[in-house]
Amino acid sequence: MKRIGMLTSGGDCQALNAAMRGVVKSLIFSGEQIEIYGFLNGYQGLIYGNYRMLDVSDFSGILTRGGTILGSSRTPFKTIRQPDENGLDKVESMKHNYFKLNLDCLVILGGNGTHKTANLLREEGLNVITLPKTIDNDLWGTDMTFGFQSAVDIATNAIDCIHTTADSHSRVFIVEVMGHKVGFLTLNAGVASGADIILLPEIPYDIDKVVEAIDARKKRGSRFTIIAVAEGAISKEDAKLSKKEYKKKLKEATHPSVSYRLADEIYKKTGQEVRVTVPGHMQRGGGPCAYDRVFASRLGAEAGKLILQGKYGFMVGYKNREVVKVPLEEVAGKLKMVDPNSSIIKEAKMLGISFGD
Ligand code: F6P
Repeated sequence: MKRIGMLTSGGDCQALNAAMRGVVKSLIFSGEQIEIYGFLNGYQGLIYGNYRMLDVSDFSGILTRGGTILGSSRTPFKTIRQPDENGLDKVESMKHNYFKLNLDCLVILGGNGTHKTANLLREEGLNVITLPKTIDNDLWGTDMTFGFQSAVDIATNAIDCIHTTADSHSRVFIVEVMGHKVGFLTLNAGVASGADIILLPEIPYDIDKVVEAIDARKKRGSRFTIIAVAEGAISKEDAKLSKKEYKKKLKEATHPSVSYRLADEIYKKTGQEVRVTVPGHMQRGGGPCAYDRVFASRLGAEAGKLILQGKYGFMVGYKNREVVKVPLEEVAGKLKMVDPNSSIIKEAKMLGISFGD
């Protein structure tokens, strides 16, 4: 008999349900008796003992369903050691609930912040297995996270839709893609949709280079320009600021986001009409694409295998096209970012895409 706790934490994404189903199915088909405790709304459920006992039927029909049947929330790692408003020690409370239920293991699905807390719980003596979710694909220790490919499809579709209208009106269109810290989503959706300019947090842009790229297209006879901009794209001058100075600048900014500021600057410098589209949380919404269904199911199945073997303290990740287990301490606290010297960036530049650098 295995008693398993499960929770989904952080921003949701597609294929969370598919991954949980994968874990549960693989355990059931092994013949093992299981009890599943689903903690609601991420770590909040574990902290406050808010859980639901789940049975096999809860996992049926959810392969294709977006969101998470357990609900999610953000519980920032930097506050995890701070008592809550009633003086409750959150870490002690999570341990208490885990031991009270006599769990064999906790399966945690999440991104970067979630993994820091998962690793802390491991250090505190809990048996933990994690699964890497996020549309940002920025988790260290895995080449891929589930949710990413689904979001790439949605962002690509958004830019595809913009293409025809941009052409009709000879406009510059900016499409803002999710990703505050890393640009994998913008990069992939940008290349997939034939964006002309791609601006990423990892490659600070020079507005004059952006304008040069727009002008060069005009000279070549192109009536429009499509710019895919990551939420966290940053100019070269802003990149020189300290973190604190940049945060202050963002707080005082009059534009709602980087795209609107860029739009203003481009209009002032080129006189061309500019429009901004922000698909926003659509990118995390809807059902998982086929790739993510397969991928999350595979990771879930491997997590089930680790539980059966009693091997804890790992994230189930993906390296060089193989599902692997990565020690949690190697993952926690590290961010995977786009390497400006990677081959995909070089190849994109060979295709004529400007990164504004
Ligand atoms: O979960 C990742 C992510 O979708 C980022 O791409 C985005 O910047 C952020 O979350 C948005 O967070 P929230 O849903 O809390 O507004």
